[in-house]
Amino acid sequence: MDKELEQIKQKTLQDLDQAQDLKSWDAIRVATLGKSAFLTQKLKELGTFPAELRKERGALLNRLRNELVQAIDTRKAVLEEIELNEKLSAEALDITLPVPVYTGVTHPLRRTIEEIIAIFGAMNFKVVDGPNRDTDWFNFSALNIDEHHPARADHDTFYLPTRTSEGHQHLLRTQTSTVQIRILLDQKPPIRIIAPGRTYRADHDATHSPMFHQCEGMVVDKHITLGHLKGCLIDFLRAFFALPTLPVRFRSSYFPFTEPSMEIDIGWNRKTGELGGGSDWLEILGAGLMHSRVLANCGVNPQEWQAFAFGVGIERLTMLKYGISDLRSFYESDLRWLRYYGFQSFRSVALHEGI
Ligand code: PHE
Repeated sequence: MDKELEQIKQKTLQDLDQAQDLKSWDAIRVATLGKSAFLTQKLKELGTFPAELRKERGALLNRLRNELVQAIDTRKAVLEEIELNEKLSAEALDITLPVPVYTGVTHPLRRTIEEIIAIFGAMNFKVVDGPNRDTDWFNFSALNIDEHHPARADHDTFYLPTRTSEGHQHLLRTQTSTVQIRILLDQKPPIRIIAPGRTYRADHDATHSPMFHQCEGMVVDKHITLGHLKGCLIDFLRAFFALPTLPVRFRSSYFPFTEPSMEIDIGWNRKTGELGGGSDWLEILGAGLMHSRVLANCGVNPQEWQAFAFGVGIERLTMLKYGISDLRSFYESDLRWLRYYGFQSFRSVALHEGI
């Protein structure tokens, strides 16, 4: 190969080696193979050569051209890979970033409601709801608490200034027992429901809040006895507190809408606060077999159907289970308190893991 061509070849290979991006690579490609490139000119000039020289020189020039085309293509592939890698590392997700520390948490009262739902859900209870603003008929009269009954005064009711078209006074419900009535009027037995929700009484100290939560439960079926009520509530309390031998006591009591009525206590140690041990009793639930008059008020024949009902305070359950001493802290929205007592929202309640 003549000297000039050899120089061109070496110079081009060197330039290609030094090209660091596709832009400078392209400049070399044009300068080497473009219309006005040295090699292109030489190939054009071939026509002016005598035939015997033309063949030999043509072969030489074409061999050189092929070599350069190959070198140019190879360098392009290398540069493309470099650029791709740079792009990928610039766009990469850093999956080692820590999860933000302050994610939202589930409020302990919500957690307790979810646990109650999980336990009764496993016993085939359905979750239902009722309005917070109700009437004195649903909250009292239909529950066998007539106009002059002393229980009305006990409830410290928040009355509202309006009445329904039938003349029933609006109020904020003082108990979730209103939902018993609403469901009895709405559904045909057999019925198995729980109704967690807010309730209101004009009362405020370390153990009372004007707004608090209850969960009502009701089973309507044929041949319902006190045995069903007892079995159901013992199972619930032992599952909820995760204490398989928790002592449970049924103590005779009075509610106008149940007959017989009872209050239910669990065993604990008043001094240490420990549940299940000690010789003290702590009241935790109200319950009873539904009064035949309540069933009749709602058009259910008490000769054919029997029912039991219970009501439990959700704050009380939560305070006992998680060692919370002041009821007011539930509603103060203190973030430090919530982070301490709250639950990871991603961990839902699972009966098989224990509650
Ligand atoms: N509603 C009653 C209360 O608030 C509790 C209760 C519910 C009692 C159902 C008996 C049956 O004290």
